[in-house]
Amino acid sequence: MRDHSDLQQMNERSLVQQSAVRKATFSPGEVKTLRPFSIWEISQFMFHVPADTLRKKLAEDPSLPQGETEEDGRQRWFTLAEINELRRRVRFRGKSLLPKRPKGRAMRVAVSNFKGGVGKTVVAQHLANAAALDGYRVLCVDFDPQATLTHSMGLTEVKEWNTVWGIMCRDLCREADRIADGYDDPDDCPYPASDELPQDVQSIGAQRVQDFIQSTCWPTIDIIPSCANAAFVEFASAQYRSLHKAWSFFGCMARYLDELPDDQYDLIVFDCPPAIGYQSLNAAFAADILYIPSGPGYWEYDSTTSYLGQLGDAMNDISEGFSELAEDAGITLPKQFRDIRLLMTRFELNNPLHTAMMDAFRNVFGEDLCDSPIEMTRAVEQSGRFQMSVYEQDYRQMTRETWKRARQSFDRAYDEFRDTVLRAWAADSAQKEEV
Ligand SMILES: Nc1ncnc2c1ncn2[C@@H]1O[C@H](COP(=O)(O)OP(=O)(O)OP(=O)(O)O)[C@@H](O)[C@H]1O
Ligand SMILES: [Mg+2]
Repeated sequence: MRDHSDLQQMNERSLVQQSAVRKATFSPGEVKTLRPFSIWEISQFMFHVPADTLRKKLAEDPSLPQGETEEDGRQRWFTLAEINELRRRVRFRGKSLLPKRPKGRAMRVAVSNFKGGVGKTVVAQHLANAAALDGYRVLCVDFDPQATLTHSMGLTEVKEWNTVWGIMCRDLCREADRIADGYDDPDDCPYPASDELPQDVQSIGAQRVQDFIQSTCWPTIDIIPSCANAAFVEFASAQYRSLHKAWSFFGCMARYLDELPDDQYDLIVFDCPPAIGYQSLNAAFAADILYIPSGPGYWEYDSTTSYLGQLGDAMNDISEGFSELAEDAGITLPKQFRDIRLLMTRFELNNPLHTAMMDAFRNVFGEDLCDSPIEMTRAVEQSGRFQMSVYEQDYRQMTRETWKRARQSFDRAYDEFRDTVLRAWAADSAQKEEV
């Protein structure tokens, strides 16, 4: 017979191996670093000008970042910080290189589907990377205790109080006090104030808004990370709800993000767990846009269908069951999204089953299905193992065609994503002007 101690021992053996794998995959001292980018990449994929035009601009103004020259002297390489300085200072034919950024707060996009392994994390990571290379400042939020995105971003030692769980504890404390303060006589309040909540909730809840945000090796990507212990948030949240029955548990992340200064980020990308629970509901309630990746198989189609139904039902139940409580917390129900898009992932162009599934998705979802699927690529399979996105991989480590193809597939998906975000921003601005 075997029991929990077997599971714990297996876990210990596996953790030893895990740290060995990390040692082998992260460059020196287990710290993930971001590579520099060549003039070829910058001109072709970022600035969209001929490489010679860019070289000429750099030669004309020696005060511009000049990058590091390769040992053989052929190619120059620039850090992302240098590329961003070029964006701020250089114009081509009078055109700015800065990305469009309407006023107002960052757009929030939840990458979500309760089907496991459809490519949510790969999509979230690549969209965040592509946006950063496009000049945007990005915050990623890892809602998944598997913490794949957190690890992919190079973070290894994460404490549970720094995760979405911590944000929920902090929110419970703040909401408990707001609700108690609403009573002229605190003794009339039927709910506990924060100092009556369990000690651990109070101490986790005492953190400040910026304490949850960590930097990554990308200078313009930060992350609210996750870790295995954050899986406990699902049990804990149920317990907190019974401690405080007026807590709008689904609004924690939206309230938290509202506290960030509007111009701290341009985009906030959520990587959701393969489940509908407290964390994914918080992600949905905080999101302006839902991005739903799905693979091209029958099971994935079935799963995506039931995900849509279950998320719809869960949000409807909240609208009907919690309307008073939400109104008191200033939340308007039903929750409105600016857009909902489906994105086909792990797509093989020459696979007739995949093209048939793409047609089926198109018939059913019409314009809501993104035009450009994310192709299945060796570069990504490899990048999964090395925890690196296509953008992070050095194209000299593989055939340039393989890398270029993979990059272009993600770039096309990103271009469509950016259009969706810009449309949502425009709609937001128009609505604000009306008010
Ligand atoms: N476009 C792609 N080409 C090749 N492999 C891919 C692609 N997208 C995802 N994968 C691989 O598929 C696996 C699952 O991807 P990923 O972790 O992104 O899925 P997920 O939906 O986030 O999974 P989970 O539900 O467990 O969070 C990974 O091994 C990843 O490397
Ligand atoms: Mg994932």
